[in-house]
Amino acid sequence: MLCQLADPSATEALGQALADCVRPGMLVTLDGPLGSGKTHLVRALLRAIGHSGRVRSPTYTVMEPYDLAWGRVCHFDFYRFSKDFEADDAGLREEFNAATLCVVEWPLQAGEWLPSADLALIWQPVTEGRLVQICAAASTCLPVWPAQSANPGGTGAKA
Ligand SMILES: Nc1ncnc2c1ncn2[C@@H]1O[C@H](COP(=O)(O)OP(=O)(O)OP(=O)(O)O)[C@@H](O)[C@H]1O
Ligand SMILES: [Mg+2]
Repeated sequence: MLCQLADPSATEALGQALADCVRPGMLVTLDGPLGSGKTHLVRALLRAIGHSGRVRSPTYTVMEPYDLAWGRVCHFDFYRFSKDFEADDAGLREEFNAATLCVVEWPLQAGEWLPSADLALIWQPVTEGRLVQICAAASTCLPVWPAQSANPGGTGAKA
């Protein structure tokens, strides 16, 4: 499924729509070039599930955790992640568990240990706005996602 996101508010609407499709234990990957709007989307998702504070980009910290009434969310950005730096040593792998929603920017930089995504968002190159391909794993998000987000926020999504 492709989602056309004309402007940042459309990205926010998609982040809000995602909130109805995710739950602790899932992995959402966000794959797109620098400045695509990945963090912008995560910010909207976090707001929609009850986070009212700041959402920092994890570009330098690799991981930003959020312990919400909704559950635990870990927001990763592996852009600067060195494959020499063991994820085990940093305790990062432990976060990929049944109690935590993991949202990962730059998943290909993480290395092969990263589990397969329940929901994968892939930004496509466009001249105006953003175009995002959404791939959902059959066993988890797929049953709810298409109905839920046929037109998130009136942004002109198309199947
Ligand atoms: N649909 C959209 N159309 C145009 N601009 C957008 C859209 N969605 C988000 N943006 C803008 O894109 C910019 C970059 O967003 P953001 O920092 O979230 O990118 P990113 O993908 O996380 O980048 P990085 O890979 O560096 O972490 C922001 O200024 C945001 O407002
Ligand atoms: Mg980012």
